[in-house]
Amino acid sequence: MMQPLLSRSADFQWWKHGVIYQVYLRSFQDSNGDGVGDLAGLIARLDYLTGLGVDAIWLSPIFSSPMADFGYDVADHTAVDPLFGDLAVFRELVSQVHSRGLKIILDYIPNHTSEQHAWFLESRASRTAAKRDWYVWRDPGPGGGAPNNWRGEFGGSAWSWDEPTGQYYYHAFLPSQPDLNWRNPAAARAMLNVLRFWLDEGVDGFRVDAIHHLLEDESLADNPPNPQWREAMGPAEQFLKVHTVDQPEVHPFIAAMRRLVEGYGADRVLIGEAYLPIPRLMAYYGGALDGFHLPFNFHLMTTPWTPLALASLIGAYEAALPAGGWPNWVLSNHDRSRLASRLGEDQARVAAMLLLTLRGTPTLYQGDELGLTDVPIPPDRVRDPWELNVPGLGLGRDPARTPMLWSGAPNAGFSAQAPWLPLSEGWRDLNAARQLERPGSILRLYQALLALRRREEVLQVGDYALLGAAGGLLAFQRSCPESCLAVVLDLEGSGGVFPLDGGQILLSTLPGRVGERLESDLHLSPHEGAIVRRCPERQNVGERQNA
Ligand code: GLC
Repeated sequence: MMQPLLSRSADFQWWKHGVIYQVYLRSFQDSNGDGVGDLAGLIARLDYLTGLGVDAIWLSPIFSSPMADFGYDVADHTAVDPLFGDLAVFRELVSQVHSRGLKIILDYIPNHTSEQHAWFLESRASRTAAKRDWYVWRDPGPGGGAPNNWRGEFGGSAWSWDEPTGQYYYHAFLPSQPDLNWRNPAAARAMLNVLRFWLDEGVDGFRVDAIHHLLEDESLADNPPNPQWREAMGPAEQFLKVHTVDQPEVHPFIAAMRRLVEGYGADRVLIGEAYLPIPRLMAYYGGALDGFHLPFNFHLMTTPWTPLALASLIGAYEAALPAGGWPNWVLSNHDRSRLASRLGEDQARVAAMLLLTLRGTPTLYQGDELGLTDVPIPPDRVRDPWELNVPGLGLGRDPARTPMLWSGAPNAGFSAQAPWLPLSEGWRDLNAARQLERPGSILRLYQALLALRRREEVLQVGDYALLGAAGGLLAFQRSCPESCLAVVLDLEGSGGVFPLDGGQILLSTLPGRVGERLESDLHLSPHEGAIVRRCPERQNVGERQNA
């Protein structure tokens, strides 16, 4: 008997077929003229997101914070920072999001808090403070100085000295972001309660920040030198992080988060941020699939953009997935150089087609649908603490965090005042309103891709099979019993011919080809990608021979 399509089973939760859109709130829409995006601004732009065709919003941190790391330094987990609004506006957002059939995912930052969090203030008050053990405090190393060679991600030692109490505290990131001690049961309980608070407010899930940093090796052993280290990689990469990330004891804590979230219903989602090689990443699904629903898969961002490299990445990832584990793909986020800068503007369109046709949940980063590139930041406007601490290596993340471009109005319609970071130079042409009027724009391509993905169930549930990776072209197939599509992408800009036994073009990255019938081969222009519906009874010669 034929299996029913996954899409018709109760197991087909929204986060399997939906597309997630990352809103970097500071740069989305300002409503009160302070140059920084806010919750009311987001509410005002929700129709743009439904028009785009995404399903869920992942919202960067909104919590009360001194903003040393732009909200990833939380001072109060259950208060909305006044810069962004208040709890009442947040409730309005949740209700408006849900009334449009969208979902909302919050950032959850379990690894550290702000140094201004009440817990840390109490913890650092004295060695005998009730919350002393909620953070990671250690005596100086044997010869004095820091306990070991561990480095902070944003430069310098990962240990800061606290003169009044005569101990060091550990921080994987900035000194103003002390690490919580999850081995302390009361601290762990308090952090789990944060999840409860926001679930009670009706959120649909969490993107869990820096989860691979949650615990460190208790032996405090030095990290070994990284033989591949070059200065351009930044000081944090000088040592291999064997004792500071991806410690096996993290998994029971993820399982506890999962149990709690699922207690609110089977459709809540838990997504984990862990930059790890594929085999290690897979452990974050949990041994009994009791970990993250979606451990973020960042490998498209670092794999060379060639047919062979991508084909082997996709194959390796698909093969490594645990049974029942759902795949996901990410092409960019607020921490990385913009997609269109990494790959070039022409390839940004091809990349969009790849991301939205691979098997698994895609996450889009705001502004990629406009084809935004990194914006050069003059030295006096740098805001990212990473760039301020380790200048000149190109590690700073401001260039990818610049404001959305909405219209030809002053400040691109983002704010009534000068924005906190500069706008893209070409904003008069790149803005969303302008692009919506232009049929060949990248924004219209994103809309078409998202609509196709919604319409063609095979793109949501179909199996993946590689068709070819040569001559600059990557070709794969998505198929289910009822339908079969080929996706063929020119990654190298020389165009090409891919052998097919006919079919019909459902979408091309270049305008004017939708509906075109193919008698046989598919001819692609330079930097073109196409999605072709294949006739079920006619397959490639190669496939027939292999069958
Ligand atoms: C994550 C966030 C990044 C932040 C860091 C520390 O990697 O994405 O923006 O700086 O965690 O919280």
